[in-house]
Amino acid sequence: MNAFHPIDVILHKRDGLALSDEEIRGFIRAIVERTPDCQLVTDAQIAALLMAIFLQGLDSRELATLTSAMRSSGDVFDAAPLKTFMVDKHSTGGVGDKTSLLIAPILAAAGLAHLTDEGVPGICVPMISGRSLGHTGGTLDKLETIPGFNSQIDLKQLAETLRICGAALIGQTPRIVPADRTLYALRDHTGTVESPFLITASIMSKKLAESLNALVLDVKVGSGAFMPTYERSQQLATLMVETGEAAGTHTVALLTGMDEPLGRFSGNWVEVWECVDIMQGRWHPMSADLIELSNILAGWMLHLAGRAPSPEAGSEMADSILRSGDAYKAWLRIVQAQGGDISVFEDPAAHHKPAAKRVLKAEQTGYLSSMNCKQAGWAVQRLGAGRTKPGDPVSAHAGIESHVKLGSRIERGQALFTLFSEDEALLEEPEQMLRAALSIGQTPPKLLPLVREVVSTESIQRQK
Ligand code: URA
Repeated sequence: MNAFHPIDVILHKRDGLALSDEEIRGFIRAIVERTPDCQLVTDAQIAALLMAIFLQGLDSRELATLTSAMRSSGDVFDAAPLKTFMVDKHSTGGVGDKTSLLIAPILAAAGLAHLTDEGVPGICVPMISGRSLGHTGGTLDKLETIPGFNSQIDLKQLAETLRICGAALIGQTPRIVPADRTLYALRDHTGTVESPFLITASIMSKKLAESLNALVLDVKVGSGAFMPTYERSQQLATLMVETGEAAGTHTVALLTGMDEPLGRFSGNWVEVWECVDIMQGRWHPMSADLIELSNILAGWMLHLAGRAPSPEAGSEMADSILRSGDAYKAWLRIVQAQGGDISVFEDPAAHHKPAAKRVLKAEQTGYLSSMNCKQAGWAVQRLGAGRTKPGDPVSAHAGIESHVKLGSRIERGQALFTLFSEDEALLEEPEQMLRAALSIGQTPPKLLPLVREVVSTESIQRQK
């Protein structure tokens, strides 16, 4: 075998050539085999290849090879001994997007209600999630605001948690998809997040490492989506559905609106608080879109798992699981199994302790007609909820509360958002960013449904 030179791979992709399978696998191997004393490939070289892929793209063979090399860069979960139906959902990233925190317990409750002959929940959700990326929040950062919560569990603990709870919420670890851990962190700081190829490889490598039977993808469209146009979001959805199906996982993607922060809060602990409120039966009007989307996505998962005759029937089932309190019971089980202190859920509002607060008020009367949601997401990150470099801690208490939604009638002087931070000095810039992100018009805007389109193998075939 020829010696491996990372620079050759970078030059080939930079110059628009297709990479061989050997080059792609060699590069991913070099990333995960690095030790502090032996850097087979440097961060600068990894970032250079990311940028080359960002600019030149990948063909379908390269994408399949990259995804499978990343998936196999660590341990892969063997779900066969559980003899259950493995299903998951993943979002391409949003602002205030906390559906995972509701969906995992909803599905877990559905699974616990029907145990297999071996006593395992009939549906299991092994959710491998990520940290904040670019302007979007990360499920792990939110979960880790729960004292004691351990997202870094190994595969043996994952199997045990699924057996007891029907769901687990975990992160990439040095053992599970370690290549994505490195690539994800570098992409966040090198302007290489918004590539449909890199997003597909990142998401699908994690999901395929879970050995899923079915996967529901929430592909965002609109001003807060990574993809700049509807067509690019469609392309991303198609790439992910094709990659999932080629690997034997029944995959469906929903294109959903990300034109404003989802739900009431955006941040870290505040998002956990919002979900706990919902699961405990306190439904705030600002959470309506979050509840709707969570039920729709959970409905698709229940349908693909054979528990509901249609996605719509699944959505109704999800709604009643949420209302019955069963999702909350499942949530407590999951958090406890992963070491979290569930006493914080007795009064979640009391655990929100930002040192500084500011209310952004309307300067004119009218209707909230549009929002630059990406800008709103960056404002949340800059309040302290995100990181400026890999490994930085994130603030548990930073974030925003939305008091209005697109289409809301607004009176001059009315509170639009409350900003929270742990540092007074961090409020100024995000306040300006949020103000600039809003448009107030004199007529009510035309509002679009949350789900714009469903992309499946069948819909892709119809397009061809
Ligand atoms: N979520 C991921 O896991 N990876 C991405 O690249 C984007 C969203």
